[in-house]
Amino acid sequence: MQRKIEVCLTPALINLYTITESIVVVIDILRATSSIVYGIDNGAEAIIPVAQVEECLTYADKGFLLAAERNGEVVAGYDFGNSPFSYTPDKVAGKTVVLTTTNGTKALHLARKAHQVVIGSFLNLESLCSWLKTQDRDILLLCAGWKDQFNLEDTIFAGAVVQQLRSSFVLSDDASVAAEDLYILAKDNLRAYVGKSSHSNRMVALNIEEDVQFCLQLNICTAIPVLVGDSLVALKK
Ligand code: MLT
Repeated sequence: MQRKIEVCLTPALINLYTITESIVVVIDILRATSSIVYGIDNGAEAIIPVAQVEECLTYADKGFLLAAERNGEVVAGYDFGNSPFSYTPDKVAGKTVVLTTTNGTKALHLARKAHQVVIGSFLNLESLCSWLKTQDRDILLLCAGWKDQFNLEDTIFAGAVVQQLRSSFVLSDDASVAAEDLYILAKDNLRAYVGKSSHSNRMVALNIEEDVQFCLQLNICTAIPVLVGDSLVALKK
């Protein structure tokens, strides 16, 4: 049977999909999944995604780094938030990070019932797509969006994956077609197109535009974070 690829445009739509036998790729380009990919690629032992800020605190005396972001800002009292610049080798190599973010970690929790949950970003696009092509499973690309609403940057990334996989998979929903079309529209100047997005504007207002630029880099990482139990770790390819 031919494998299919679908795009879930927001977490609010996840219940419309049967995911128990599928691979779900969680996508939150600005910035959760970009930072997770970067952190695992830089040698973080594990990143534990938790849905609530208070849940981070239950890990407080385990020697882990605690990271919390809400509405684009670091939550006061935490080691850091969701900026990729906090996930460099000097900060995370060999360490476990407990992370909560506004949308990304919530989407991750909604995906838990899947056969396998992996993390996608422009940083590991090539490596992710090469691996997905070798898997005998249907794929759901889950966009984290913004507070259950559609967003541009996650959909554009989903479209980039669709474009790479379309020759090996059946496209069975209009969301995949729309995502790919949006990617084709945006790909020659990703920064300019993503500049139209609400979260990019939010980040510019917070003076963290360099994070946007960073998260749009292509293929600087090869790691594919995979959810094992409660932790995201590097997939053994
Ligand atoms: C999120 O999970 O909502 C985002 O990654 C927000 C951000 O930190 O930019």
